[in-house]
Amino acid sequence: MAKILITGGAGYIGSHVVNLLKNSNHELIIYDNLSTGRLESVVSGKLIHGELEDLEKLEGLISSEQFDACIHFAGSIIVPESVSDPLKYYYNNTKNTLDLINLCVKFRVNNFIFSSTAAVYGMSEDGVCSEDSSLNPISPYGKTKLMSEWMLEDLAKANQDFNYVALRYFNVAGASLDGKVGQCSPHSTHLIKLACEAALGKREKLSIFGDNYETKDGTCIRDYIHTDDLALAHGNALDYLLNGGDSQVLNCGYGEGYSVKEVVETVKSVSGVNFPVEIAPRRSGDPVMLVSKAEKIREVLNWSPKYNDLELIVRTAFEWERNFKG
Ligand SMILES: NC(=O)c1ccc[n+]([C@@H]2O[C@H](COP(=O)([O-])OP(=O)(O)OC[C@H]3O[C@@H](n4cnc5c(N)ncnc54)[C@H](O)[C@@H]3O)[C@@H](O)[C@H]2O)c1
Repeated sequence: MAKILITGGAGYIGSHVVNLLKNSNHELIIYDNLSTGRLESVVSGKLIHGELEDLEKLEGLISSEQFDACIHFAGSIIVPESVSDPLKYYYNNTKNTLDLINLCVKFRVNNFIFSSTAAVYGMSEDGVCSEDSSLNPISPYGKTKLMSEWMLEDLAKANQDFNYVALRYFNVAGASLDGKVGQCSPHSTHLIKLACEAALGKREKLSIFGDNYETKDGTCIRDYIHTDDLALAHGNALDYLLNGGDSQVLNCGYGEGYSVKEVVETVKSVSGVNFPVEIAPRRSGDPVMLVSKAEKIREVLNWSPKYNDLELIVRTAFEWERNFKG
């Protein structure tokens, strides 16, 4: 049994990981300010309502609990907002991560799992990114995450006891198969969530940003990963680190791409609703295609995802959204 600190465990992805880890014998302590997370999403463990920037409180917790590992989800995640308010992102994602890592080092929490993102790649040449592809984040959001990765990389080189796994998530979607947790995030920009909202009449229409890209149907292509498979990747990463694994940076995706139009058609067919769709101008900084090379995580963590099925992803997201009264 291990004692795990989970920052941001009341949020979308963190709640799926808590939902998975409740079946382990680990003790879970969730630290979250509930700014975008929800109390109801914490299905197991002990929730401590706190700000990452409240260093007195955070140090009090970390110094007293002797954690074996930290999984760090807490952060700000809306890409367009990071463009209009970059300092909020450098503060919450980079500065707060630095402070957290510092406390982990000080109190020898030497296993660290970090929520990174495919946004660190930016515009790659062919749209298929391996962990070794060049890193050119376009948005401040992507830059704040890459800076955090660099801090971890340099720290792990300098401190032999400290190991981390940075997981670069591609497009996260869906809700847990058991129906316990799903996406509640306010102001979400996630396509599948927005399309489900449009199908349920929670929004008037869905916008597709650009339909004249050089792809099969003119819309952008992304790699969608189901939240329960992503949660499993965290469970595997935790086992790996607790068993003495060394530091890794790993893509989390299926290695398959779907166009925006294909996703919209899937939501229409799953929901049975032909909701209005408008073609809006391209958004600056949207890569045409962003798909993972997904072999390394399978090799290193023995990750075997079970829900690589766009229709299933959409169905779980739609069912969740239908019951969600947020
Ligand atoms: N959702 C995605 O598609 C996606 C893709 C790539 C990476 N990520 C990363 O995964 C992580 C989790 O994302 P999510 O989709 O679950 O987002 P989310 O907004 O649902 O969850 C973030 C959680 O962190 C908490 N939080 C934020 N700032 C905090 C602070 N200063 N102190 C304490 N708690 C704080 C929020 O209340 C929330 O519960 C983020 O770091 C995000 O950058 C998400």
